[in-house]
Amino acid sequence: MHILVSDPLGDSGIAILEQQDGITFDHPGTKMSRAEVMAVIGDADGLIIRSGTTADAELLAAATKLKAIARAGVGVDNVDLAAATERGIVVMNTPSGNTIATAEMTLGLMLALARHIPRAHQALVEGRWERKEWMGTELNGKTLGLVGFGRVGQAVGTRAAAFGMKVVAYDPYLESIPDGATIVDNLEELYAQADYLSLHAVVTDETRHMINADAIASMKAGVRIINAARGSLIDTFALADAIKAGKVAGAGLDVYETEPPDENNPLIGLDGVVHTPHLGASTLEAQDAVADEAVRLMIDALLNNSYVSVVNQEVLAQISN
Ligand code: MLT
Repeated sequence: MHILVSDPLGDSGIAILEQQDGITFDHPGTKMSRAEVMAVIGDADGLIIRSGTTADAELLAAATKLKAIARAGVGVDNVDLAAATERGIVVMNTPSGNTIATAEMTLGLMLALARHIPRAHQALVEGRWERKEWMGTELNGKTLGLVGFGRVGQAVGTRAAAFGMKVVAYDPYLESIPDGATIVDNLEELYAQADYLSLHAVVTDETRHMINADAIASMKAGVRIINAARGSLIDTFALADAIKAGKVAGAGLDVYETEPPDENNPLIGLDGVVHTPHLGASTLEAQDAVADEAVRLMIDALLNNSYVSVVNQEVLAQISN
């Protein structure tokens, strides 16, 4: 069985592939260009990717031997799931490896906003010793509203509680309520309470641009919004307007509607906005964890016909026939 690893992957995952009998693999070690992937995808039984490779319908049509895709990470927005299912290709992801990295990034953005760390840093390296300008606020005693209370949302909640925050969450898909969690019934209740609002949801037709002008209007004045999930949860222009109007006191953004952000994105460089370039999962620990998990999922799929963490579940009935 031959596996193509078309994006950079943690060393621990590559070490597993090197030691695995019955497997050959290609891994240039850097992100392969579209043309490079297209040139060799026809030989691959398995494809391991991060967010760099777009497995769209055209690529999948060229992948004539492909049986499985493993995404080292959570989001599968770079995979055309319907096209994969139609071709009997199983798509798997690694939902747990990034959890702590993303939760810690979220807290980092909150602290950066509360204490103006990036702007104070910038002033100092530019030779200004500014101590009055960057008066901060404390997380302690503030309310954190979590949109989505899955793995990352819960990990953020635990850490925020350790900072003395009151944590409130909204998640219509929650199967059971974790001990001690405060869950509200609707977003309006969440927005009315949150001093910090952090997004931990996937993008669907229901959640795309959920943070829009109407939603922001029902939030507390001075709310700070954090997004380390997906950029399309926020209407970029509505958020920029609300920050300029002073309704929203700040935003900590790791993700954007288009990545890298368009040059006309009004949030970039706006006072009160802290940016990082989609680094939520970028820790050595998380990248090793998701690489390991993705490689093991792929080996099991190709050598044992055993499929775990399948995103397009409906394909399983199809390939068992
Ligand atoms: C994920 O979906 O796993 C994260 O956003 C990180 C990534 O895209 O690799």
